[in-house]
Amino acid sequence: MTELAGGPPGLAPLWAHDPPTAGPYRLLGRLGAGGQGVVYLGEDEQGDRVAVKMINIDLRDPRARSQFMKEIAAARRVAPFCTAQVLFADVDGERPYVVSEFIEGPTLFRHVREQGPVTGNALHRLAVGTATALAAIHRSHVVHCDLKPDNVVLGRDGPRVIDFGIARAVGVTETVTSQVVGTIAYMAPERFRNDGVGPACDVFAWAATIAFAAGGRPPFGNDSLFAVMHRVVHEPPDLPPLPPDLDDLVRQCLAKDPADRPEAEHVLMRLLGQDATAAGPHRREAMLEVGHETAGAPTPNQPLPIPTPTIPVQARTGGQDAPTAPAAGQGRPAATDDGWGRRLRREATDAWGVSTAIFLGSVGAAAGYLASGLVGDAAAAGAATFVVVYLVRLLLAVALGGRSHQT
Ligand SMILES: Nc1ncnc2c1ncn2[C@@H]1O[C@H](COP(=O)(O)OP(=O)(O)OP(=O)(O)O)[C@@H](O)[C@H]1O
Ligand SMILES: [Mg+2]
Repeated sequence: MTELAGGPPGLAPLWAHDPPTAGPYRLLGRLGAGGQGVVYLGEDEQGDRVAVKMINIDLRDPRARSQFMKEIAAARRVAPFCTAQVLFADVDGERPYVVSEFIEGPTLFRHVREQGPVTGNALHRLAVGTATALAAIHRSHVVHCDLKPDNVVLGRDGPRVIDFGIARAVGVTETVTSQVVGTIAYMAPERFRNDGVGPACDVFAWAATIAFAAGGRPPFGNDSLFAVMHRVVHEPPDLPPLPPDLDDLVRQCLAKDPADRPEAEHVLMRLLGQDATAAGPHRREAMLEVGHETAGAPTPNQPLPIPTPTIPVQARTGGQDAPTAPAAGQGRPAATDDGWGRRLRREATDAWGVSTAIFLGSVGAAAGYLASGLVGDAAAAGAATFVVVYLVRLLLAVALGGRSHQT
């Protein structure tokens, strides 16, 4: 595939018949194509990059159209924890399209194909990040319906789940188009029995995705359609070697009966070493933030943050039932960008910390003057005390999660 110079890796030029724009978005190139349509890299009027998915379905039927918009509106309300935010959708033109935050990086599928299985801390962070995304998605009463390695992008700040709710929105016309939505190897057994699609299907798909990441193949194989379906419904999973706790969790999530699978929030808590039975609403919300930070931890051997769940989730963007026009700067998640950097910036200017350092610096200067009787020595002692107090407090505050973080 020809790559477009200057663009992110994998970006191909537009084809001759591709539209140059979608509503207010300029289309810059093709990111890829899947079962539902083509995904373009786009740019909004402020120059922020977005992913524009043009969907291959006919939405002329008003009932299907309103159902589609309802599903997308629900997806827009999902909090931006380890997810690519859905920003906008339009069904009025010739072809419907959904706009979401652009995440630069390879998909999990491509990463495993090119670099081999994910192991150690990277596997743990992947499991935490994808479980965090799933918990956030389910909190908004959205079911992903198509979680798989192609729908996880490994961004610079950790894994991000994309495409949530779109399969279900497209599924409203499934009877018309007879398309099978989703990928068989990650589908839960109840989907083949035509039982309702619920959050437990996503938990199954999460576990199958993690097994793929760790072993390079899905746990029920990927040969012929019927062979895979048979194994999903009747046979135990064939898992790669996993750490014992993760092995246990993945097996439970792959239970044939959806009632035997844990909920996504419980999966996340277990991954974070928390007691899944003792969770109140605030604790659960804080878990999403802890999960997001853990998944984006910059160094492989960094210890997990100590969860002190006192932070409520920041107010979500959107909240309206019908998708509206995109606002400037919506291409970035509001609440979660870069945990360590954000904490460092906040603590560096923390008024309490700076005043404490100034006060102790003055004490140091006074002590210096008393000891030497020289103004120059007093100033040097004051300045040294200020710098030491300021830096020590800053390091402690950032490492422990921050004083202002916990109020
Ligand atoms: N928000 C996004 N940010 C970055 N890249 C994206 C985004 N959405 C999609 N892509 C890219 O576009 C490619 C095609 O996505 P698409 O969803 O059409 O295909 P798929 O995931 O393979 O299949 P499916 O149609 O079942 O979801 C993805 O593999 C990914 O590389
Ligand atoms: Mg996709």
